[in-house]
Amino acid sequence: MGFYRDRDIEALKKADGKYFLHPFTGIQDAIERGPRIIAGAYRTRVYDIDGNEYIDGFAGLWYNNIGHGREEMIEAAADQMATLDVFHCFSGFSNVPAIQLAEKLSKIVPLEKSKVFFAGSGSEVNDSLFKIARLYWSVLGMDSKDYIISRNKGYHGVGYGSIQATRFPHYQEGFDPFPPGFAFINEPYCYYCPWGLEFPSCNLECAEALEEKVIELGEDKVAAFIAEPVIGSGGVIVPPPGYYEKIREICNHYNILFIADEVITGFGRTGKLFGIEHWKGVTPDAMALAKGITSGYVPLGAAVISDQIFQTLRSEDMFNHGFTYSGHPLACRAALKNIEILERENLKQNAATVGLRLLEGLRNLESEHIGEVRGKGLMLALELVADRKTKNKPDHKAGFAVFEAAYRRGLITRPLDNDVVALSPSLILEKQDADRIVEILGRSIDEVMR
Ligand SMILES: Cc1ncc(COP(=O)(O)O)c(C=O)c1O
Repeated sequence: MGFYRDRDIEALKKADGKYFLHPFTGIQDAIERGPRIIAGAYRTRVYDIDGNEYIDGFAGLWYNNIGHGREEMIEAAADQMATLDVFHCFSGFSNVPAIQLAEKLSKIVPLEKSKVFFAGSGSEVNDSLFKIARLYWSVLGMDSKDYIISRNKGYHGVGYGSIQATRFPHYQEGFDPFPPGFAFINEPYCYYCPWGLEFPSCNLECAEALEEKVIELGEDKVAAFIAEPVIGSGGVIVPPPGYYEKIREICNHYNILFIADEVITGFGRTGKLFGIEHWKGVTPDAMALAKGITSGYVPLGAAVISDQIFQTLRSEDMFNHGFTYSGHPLACRAALKNIEILERENLKQNAATVGLRLLEGLRNLESEHIGEVRGKGLMLALELVADRKTKNKPDHKAGFAVFEAAYRRGLITRPLDNDVVALSPSLILEKQDADRIVEILGRSIDEVMR
C-alpha cells in the first residue's frame, strides 16, 4: 500500500499479538505467526499492509457481494451519517432507511406480506427467530412446542441459542451449560452420505430423517426446523433435488415452522436472489438474512417472518425483544444502496454465469486428489481426498495446506472441515479472474498433494 513505514508495520504486528483476541483463530498460532493485516481493498482484490495483492476469493467471509470500495456505497453512507447518524427503533421510533429497507425486503423475498425485524448479525437474527418461533407457539397455546431442529454441519451462529443449532464438533466444548430444546438430524451430504445410500434410490432418506426426529421428540414438542438452503461453513453442501419440497411437506404435516437461513445464500450468491428459490415452490415461514444484505460494508441482519407469524404475535401487548442497533439507519441505508447495485448490475446472473465457468474450470483440473467440485453460483467447494476411487480422506489437513499454498500465490480461499477448500468471491467476478483462480488452485493442489 505504501502508506505505512516498516517501523509502523512491525509495531502494529506486535500490538496485534499483545492486545487482540481474534475470532476463530488459534491463539498461540496467531501470536507466533503474526497477523495477516489487510490494509486496503478494491473490487475483487485486497491488499495487505506489506503491499501484496490478493484475489479476495471468499468475499471476506461470504459477504462482499458487490465488491469492495464502491463509490456509491461510500457516498450513501456519508450522506446518511450527515442526515441521521443514529437513533433507535424501540417504543415505536423509526427512521426512513429502516422503513424503506423493510418494505424492499418484504417485496423481494419469496414470502408474501412478510414483516422484517432488524438485528446486527446472523447470530442475532437466528437467536431472534428461535425466540419468535417459541413465542409464536406459546401465543397459540402450544407452550410445549420448544424444540429447534437443525442439521449436522449446519452453521447458524455462535450466540448462546444459535450455537446450539450450529452443529460442528468442538464448538460447544467448554462453553456449557447451554439452553435446552435443540435437536439435530444428519445432513444431506451425497458425496459422503451419512446413510451410505445413493441418490435417487435413497428416496431422500436425509429429508425423511426430519420426520423420524419429529416422531421421536413428539409433534407437540417441535417449534421449528432451520436449514441453510446450501450448507456453507459445513463444506458447501448442496442438497439433492426434491429435498426441500419434502422438508416443506413434513413441516406442514407436523405443524413446524421452516426457517431458511439465507445468511450466506441470500442476495445473489447462488445465482438466484435467494438460495431456497432453487427448489421450486418451496416457501419458508421465516428467513435469516445478513452478510450480503450490505455486502458487509456495515454489519446488519434481518429476520423475515410470514404474515401469519406476525398476525399471531400481534395479539400480544408487547414484543419484548430487540437490540440497541435494530434498524440502525446507517446499516439500513447501506443495505438499500447495496440491493440497488445488485439489481441494477444483475449480479445474480453474473454469479450464475461466472460461477458455472469456475465450477467447470475446477472440474477440469486433472488431479486424483479432487474428489468432488460442487456448489451453486459463486458458492463453490473442492473436496480433497487421498484418491478418487476410495474417497479416503487425506492423511493431513489438506484444506488448510491448500489455503496456505494459494495464499502464497495471491488467492484467498477458505479451508472448511479440514479437507474442503471453499470459494465465494464477489459477484462482480470476471471470467479472467475465474480462470486465474482455477490456475492458482490447480498449482496449489499439485504442490500440497504431491
Ligand atoms: C448460514 C449462517 N448463519 C448464521 C451465521 C452467523 O452470522 P454472524 O457471524 O454474522 O453472527 C453465519 C456466519 O457465517 C452463517 O454462515
